[in-house]
Amino acid sequence: MNQLSTLLDSALSQLKTITTLAELTDLETKTIGRKGEVTEILKGLKDMPEDQRKEFGQKANETKKTLEAAFTGKRTELEIVEMNKKLETETCDITEPGIKPKIGTLHPISKVQWEVENIFSQMGFSIMDGPEIESEYYNFEGLNIPSYHPARDMQDTFFINKQADEKHGNLVLRTHTSPVQVRTMQKYGAPLRIIVPGRVFRYEATDASHDTTFDQVEGLLIDKNISLAHLKGVLEEFLTRLFGKKVVVRFRPGYFPFVEPGLEVDFSCLLCEGKGCRVCKHSGWMEFMGAGMVHENVLKAGGIDPVVYQGWAFGFGLTRLVMMRYGIDDIRLLKSSDPRFLEQF
Ligand code: FA5
Repeated sequence: MNQLSTLLDSALSQLKTITTLAELTDLETKTIGRKGEVTEILKGLKDMPEDQRKEFGQKANETKKTLEAAFTGKRTELEIVEMNKKLETETCDITEPGIKPKIGTLHPISKVQWEVENIFSQMGFSIMDGPEIESEYYNFEGLNIPSYHPARDMQDTFFINKQADEKHGNLVLRTHTSPVQVRTMQKYGAPLRIIVPGRVFRYEATDASHDTTFDQVEGLLIDKNISLAHLKGVLEEFLTRLFGKKVVVRFRPGYFPFVEPGLEVDFSCLLCEGKGCRVCKHSGWMEFMGAGMVHENVLKAGGIDPVVYQGWAFGFGLTRLVMMRYGIDDIRLLKSSDPRFLEQF
């Protein structure tokens, strides 16, 4: 019994001097551990007379419990102390600037496309989309280009050896964004005011200004009493807003089977403002796009009555516009995925 009291007193007074968790664990093992002092004392139990055994056993258990409670209390206390020490030494300055993740930049084509979309949206045009894998019908026949027509040779394409369906011929990679004209007329009817930015494909030899994959923007406006004067107004407004300076547009006669009359559209050279310079080959004008009044066969294909409605359409090379905008002298750079090129935008 005395041994137990001494053990308890000594353990409790040692506990007072302990300052670390490691010391606490040592003391715990030494006293109430499996091979500790309490266990040692309990070994004497078997040699004791029966009547003392019970009392001794109880006392030993009480001692063990008292120590356990004291150790648990001390452990919590020391854990708090250690945590506070850690907080003091391992401070984190949350106002320090973080590590900047490397992020990409918008592709120049996306940038200009978004600007174009913004300007036309402000003028009341909706943005439309269409399939890049198109049927022969929408890419050609619906646009007044029958299979025997020599105009098919103007836009040689990649054919896919699969039929779209019974009515619409084979599948092709679309050569222009114009197929979305008939698709939209069929879906929404007249009046219409849309632009269609998108990727197109042509089977062509590539050079600094021609690629097999490039982007176009189609425009289509159908309503009553529409003339080419509206087209001129819309295009001059669009280009003036895009380039941030007054731009003038001129029309020349041009041929596209899906418009009548057909036009080639030029705009005044941005560098010399029409006076003539090296960039515009001293003409004062930059070639811009094809356009014209929508052919009545196209309106009919779209289910619109050409007696009631008329309209105009245009299509320009977004890729070429991007090249003009940023002074890029080789179209192939745009699809090269070369970060040295792309990081400049
Ligand atoms: C067309 O594609 C007609 N669909 C445009 C149109 C729409 C006319 C509506 C009338 C009414 P064109 O084949 O000219 O037209 O192409 C239009 C523009 O696409 C060209 O002015 C040029 O900027 C661009 N383009 C044509 N071929 C290439 C090419 N291989 N690489 C890059 N841009 C090209």
